[in-house]
Amino acid sequence: MERILEPETLNQNSGNVVKTKAPATHLRRYTWLLLIAWTVVVLIFLAGTLYQENQAGLMIARAEARSHIEQIVLYRQWNSLHQGVYVRVDEHTPPNPYLAALPERDLRTPSGKKLTLINPAYMTRQLYELAQRQNKVEGRIISLKPLRPENTPDFWEKKALEALERGAPEFSAVEHMPDQDYLRLIQPLIIDQSCLQCHASQGYKVGDIGGGISVAVPLEPLRAVTGKHMSMIWISYGFFWLLGLVCIVLGSFHLGKGLKQQRRTETDLQEAKQTLEAYIKASPLAIMTLDTQGCVRLWNPAAESIFGWRASEVVGQPPPFLPEDPSPEFQDLYSRGLRGEPVRGGGGASTATARSWISAFPCPLSTAPRRN
Ligand code: HEC
Repeated sequence: MERILEPETLNQNSGNVVKTKAPATHLRRYTWLLLIAWTVVVLIFLAGTLYQENQAGLMIARAEARSHIEQIVLYRQWNSLHQGVYVRVDEHTPPNPYLAALPERDLRTPSGKKLTLINPAYMTRQLYELAQRQNKVEGRIISLKPLRPENTPDFWEKKALEALERGAPEFSAVEHMPDQDYLRLIQPLIIDQSCLQCHASQGYKVGDIGGGISVAVPLEPLRAVTGKHMSMIWISYGFFWLLGLVCIVLGSFHLGKGLKQQRRTETDLQEAKQTLEAYIKASPLAIMTLDTQGCVRLWNPAAESIFGWRASEVVGQPPPFLPEDPSPEFQDLYSRGLRGEPVRGGGGASTATARSWISAFPCPLSTAPRRN
């Protein structure tokens, strides 16, 4: 009883109960916040995974470009080691005007067929024309000081060649073209001994960067393959997100139900407390409650008129009418009562007991009101 009946509330006309709307509104707000946070977290992870997937795709494209360049460079070296190779002249393979200075550029077989010298750059060009016709990787060779004007680098290639000159092993980027996206990659073409026969006049030495080989890998076919994987990622993240969503909503629903139940219990308690307070207030009997420390917690109006002390004088103090020398039975009842045991009985004063028996209880004694 002492827990329910606060002395302050006894004198108040405490009609209204706790603010009823607050917990529900809070819960709703927290649920929304949680939902937003969950969505943001899932989106961040999704973005991270998609980014990684995209990077993995680009890595594949880069590897494709590299292996492609490797092959072309090998063919070029083979060609260069032979100081060019002779092939038959036809409409696709006219003699190379940039080799016109060579005395043996064009030959004739004993049967009269025309042969012409194919240098590595010419061969590369023809290989790429072939590849382009088959809709494969596009490529060409370029140089910052080209013999053939068509081998002048475009803006991006120029930037890349300059980076290569500064020592970068390769240069790559994704370029958005009108038809589709491409991975562009450039590797340097290093001048070796075999190149000098035709390139020494440009001032190159062995080890110089004579230019670069520039390829563009179309990303569409690769994306068609990774697309399936991407949609799997979207689906599994979507599922994961939904699962979290359902858990949050269900959790919030249950919590809301619990809160409602709790609020109902609180209201019931409050009502019970008010009823009890009303009874105590109206009671013709003097009613007093003590806390475990022995301090008065409640002092009803009847107690005020019967004993003469006002509630404000007694609350928080030891009870004013305790006998100075209580009998041992009274002391026993008193202490058991304070421990919360239900006790019944009374007791008179005893001469044998010490006056300070009440100091065994921690309620401050010094200010206890005493009537003289
Ligand atoms: C048989 C002669 C010959 C040999 C050997 C040769 N080149 Fe060339 N190269 C040329 C000619 C001619 C051109 C320019 C016209 C063209 O595209 O055919 C050229 C073009 C180039 C280009 C493109 C830029 C430009 O100047 O137009 C690069 C880069 C290049 N060569 C690098 C090399 C490297 C590196 C080697 C050695 C592995 C090499 N070449 C060996 C004759 C040769």
